[in-house]
Amino acid sequence: METPDIVLEALDIHKSFGGVPALDGCSITLPRGSVTGLIGPNGSGKSTLIEIISGLLAPDRGTVRMAGTNITSWPPYRRSRHGLARTFQVSRLWEKLSVAENLMAATPSRGRDDLWRTYFGRRALRKADEADRDVIYQTLSGFDLWRLRDEPAGVLSGGQARLLEFSRIMVSGATVALLDEPLAGVNPVMADSVLSGVRQLNDRGITLLLVEHNLSVVEKLCPMVYGMETGQVTASGSISELVNTQFFADAYIGRSRERRKS
Ligand SMILES: Nc1ncnc2c1ncn2[C@@H]1O[C@H](COP(=O)(O)OP(=O)(O)OP(=O)(O)O)[C@@H](O)[C@H]1O
Ligand SMILES: [Mg+2]
Repeated sequence: METPDIVLEALDIHKSFGGVPALDGCSITLPRGSVTGLIGPNGSGKSTLIEIISGLLAPDRGTVRMAGTNITSWPPYRRSRHGLARTFQVSRLWEKLSVAENLMAATPSRGRDDLWRTYFGRRALRKADEADRDVIYQTLSGFDLWRLRDEPAGVLSGGQARLLEFSRIMVSGATVALLDEPLAGVNPVMADSVLSGVRQLNDRGITLLLVEHNLSVVEKLCPMVYGMETGQVTASGSISELVNTQFFADAYIGRSRERRKS
């Protein structure tokens, strides 16, 4: 059988905080071009796994590989240069910089996230490389942010901030992006725009890991989903396959019964 082209894999990841395991032998693989879901109850370790894959936390044990290269000991900036991007549960942008400047800082020719050069080079921004300007124009238009290009990122709504984060991923040249609850902090009226933003990233060929609590959103976007409980992947498959598993009974139905009782 032909093996799928794996862009990213986290294998047998262990991580404890103060002796308490947050990840306990967790493994996931992301096939190239996929949108893979990661679901599980609060505290099951989803964000910790993203921290470890992106390099902000070191695992106690386990391996992270990107396109076959072992990147476990690489610092985050090296992973991002290698094409790995991520978003946080709470949006992180340069709030005082304009929307357009936030994108500038993310283009590879400027050096990703190079705040200093961007901040002290505002005039230079106007003379930005033509190629960068074209990409920035197209990206801002594609994510419906063109009219906000000169606004400071700090004034954006939760949904607009997500779209700007997606724009940054797009111009950065990333090949893989880890999205940690992209609908968190987004007003429901903007939810569809954010979801179509997720689709746009994938349409551009970016492989995605999507952490999301809303299962109907996961079902729409992710043909393959990992179910996590107490630091381990205990189920995988489509959402319609997962609803018949013990994982689903324990992680979702059991909990809602407990909540009703209390
Ligand atoms: N920096 C930290 N220090 C100590 N404990 C931590 C730290 N980060 C996470 N934990 C613990 O690790 C476990 C997993 O947390 P994590 O944030 O990864 O869960 P999650 O699945 O992302 O939850 P949620 O759905 O609420 O975002 C939790 O028990 C949490 O309290
Ligand atoms: Mg989390």
